[in-house]
Amino acid sequence: MNKNIHNLRVDYRKFKLNEKTLPENPFELFSKWFNQILKSDILEPNAMVLSTSSKNKPSSRVVLLKQFDEEGFTFFTNYESRKGRELAVNKNAVLLFYWMDFERQIRIEGKVKKVPRKESELYFNSRPLESRYGALASEQSKILLDRKFLLNKINKLKIKYGDHPPLPDNWGGLKLVPDYFEFWQGRENRLHDRIVYKKYGKNWKIYRLYP
Ligand SMILES: Cc1cc2nc3c(=O)[nH]c(=O)nc-3n(C[C@H](O)[C@H](O)[C@H](O)COP(=O)(O)O)c2cc1C
Repeated sequence: MNKNIHNLRVDYRKFKLNEKTLPENPFELFSKWFNQILKSDILEPNAMVLSTSSKNKPSSRVVLLKQFDEEGFTFFTNYESRKGRELAVNKNAVLLFYWMDFERQIRIEGKVKKVPRKESELYFNSRPLESRYGALASEQSKILLDRKFLLNKINKLKIKYGDHPPLPDNWGGLKLVPDYFEFWQGRENRLHDRIVYKKYGKNWKIYRLYP
């Protein structure tokens, strides 16, 4: 074990969050932050941790944000994966972005729903051919006894479908529709800014949390 971990300490000083200049709508603040991140050279700025749970047992994994609008945040996955199965019994989930270089974290809580089939099809067909075959062949999160088995399966599917693999029934978009955002901006001496947007009916209430 590395004895020096307790000495690892970074002081955050780059940005602030000020209530007086905040937009009323959290999607606006998300867009502002996300656009800043997109302009930077951060790798995979759209990577986010998705947490789900069933039977009071949480699980987390990284997925890629592929679309967002005023309703919610969409990623694509296998509906029969562990996350898919957990979401089928409990729609409540959390997305978490951590952008280290900007000393920022965003937590987004809400309920997840499937996106319309047409939307999934559109996205599926925009993916590179090999990724489409990956989605078609992978029984995501099930036990795979040998990698060769998966590669053989892909080869057989390629013979069958050529350049046009179909969108698998068990694969597509999921959209988290938020009712809670927390924007975290690292500040000096651990006195970070934490601003919450919580939805009541159609309105967002804004408040600050102790760091
Ligand atoms: C950077 C990164 C991006 C990923 N993007 C996705 C994604 O968009 N969709 C997905 O299903 N899995 C993605 N994964 C894989 C997941 O983290 C996870 O291994 C997989 O979805 C199975 O998770 P589950 O068993 O909890 O369902 C990504 C992993 C990493 C590290």
